Amino acid sequence: MDDKLIKISFSLNGKSLTKNVSPSLFLIDFIRDELKLKGTKPGCREGECGACTVLVNGVAINSCLFLAINIHGKELITIEGLSSIEKPLHPIQEKMLEHGAVQCGFCSTGIVLTTKAFDDECRSDGKIPSRQEVKKSLEGHLCRCTGYTKIVDAAEDYLTHSSF
Ligand code: FES
Ligand code: FES
Repeated sequence: MDDKLIKISFSLNGKSLTKNVSPSLFLIDFIRDELKLKGTKPGCREGECGACTVLVNGVAINSCLFLAINIHGKELITIEGLSSIEKPLHPIQEKMLEHGAVQCGFCSTGIVLTTKAFDDECRSDGKIPSRQEVKKSLEGHLCRCTGYTKIVDAAEDYLTHSSF
């Protein structure tokens, strides 16, 4: 039997939206299939790889483990929300390219959004993170291509030089 749909209102990349969603629908499927935003990637679907990361009220979460109805009243930012016509790449994405930290790109969405959330946290605490802290912030992300060093280099460069 179909779930009864529930009306939710939320902010998507800065714009208010109201949608009817199934209470059993996961946020990743809502984003990709209903909102048609394909930048959020489905990897393990078990909370292990970080590919599906989005920001909810500024916190990086795994959208494969989060029910879509739980974004009611909240602010959802996907990777598409970091771009604009004037500036198609966010400075974190520019750093990723500069350091050669992108190969297939499947993990990149999650890494960029987690770095954005960590940057916001560091700014509000007024601190510049150490390399160890940068590494720790990215612990929940798996990359099958790069060997991680370039990713950490890119995140560290952004977090310690560009943002302050
Ligand atoms: S797809 Fe969500 S953590 Fe892997
Ligand atoms: S660049 Fe391919 S998984 Fe990270």
